[in-house]
Amino acid sequence: MSFQAQARAVADRLRTATRAAALSGAGMSVESGLPTFRSGSRALWRNRDPMTLATPEAFARDPALVWEWYRERLRAHGAATPNPGHLALAELERRIATFTLITQNVDGLHLRAGSRDVIELHGDVRTSRCASCATRVPTPLDGELPPRCACGGPLRPNVVWFGEPLPPGAYERAWEAAAGSEVFIVAGTSAVVFPAAGLVQVAREAGAFVVEINPDETPATSSCDVSMRAASGAFLPLVVELL
Ligand code: APR
Repeated sequence: MSFQAQARAVADRLRTATRAAALSGAGMSVESGLPTFRSGSRALWRNRDPMTLATPEAFARDPALVWEWYRERLRAHGAATPNPGHLALAELERRIATFTLITQNVDGLHLRAGSRDVIELHGDVRTSRCASCATRVPTPLDGELPPRCACGGPLRPNVVWFGEPLPPGAYERAWEAAAGSEVFIVAGTSAVVFPAAGLVQVAREAGAFVVEINPDETPATSSCDVSMRAASGAFLPLVVELL
């Protein structure tokens, strides 16, 4: 089926849906100039060991090193703007009675694109919390590393590190959204990190029409009704245009 025909088939499903959801990953932000974790020459995990940057143990061992990396990412997030893929998902939320966007991304671009019903499954970098008293504050863009809370404790990015629990209630709300969706879009994720990746099976087993958008195949591909070898910034706007 052609690109256009596939987009029309997805638009036909979304047009009559009253409940839909999407799971997004770092690939959604590639067309905003941000690197992914595992694909492409700029992949964040290409020359870095996640265990030295994205675990509580790494932060305890060298908080300044962890902060240098997050501060670099935060600056890149600030310089990036939402791309047509982000804007298309925000438009789907306006057009469908219930549309929940579950994102693994911490760059805030979905919110800046206008999406409102967003579950940030892996937290965000724009806020930080005190490792001692848990107070949450906007992430300081400069100053000493690690930045300090008013209580004197070290601040840490408000992201979910490997081995940490997801934000309270986030997975439950994401599970409900996936299990209740008539159409479930999976965009820009390698589908290798759980429990987020497991939401594809939750949607499928609940009878959703599952659409994957990714230039590469993933472990989720075989569970999808349609799997587009495409960029999210190209395919999603066409689907919205055909709604
Ligand atoms: N449009 C859609 N998908 C794209 C695009 C694009 N323009 N460019 C690349 N991709 C795809 C890649 O093929 C890859 O499958 O996006 C996917 C990005 O995968 P990852 O880099 O693994 O990112 P993600 O799936 O979000 O990672 C999940 O892993 O390290 C943790 O916490 C981190 O939230 C992250 C989680």
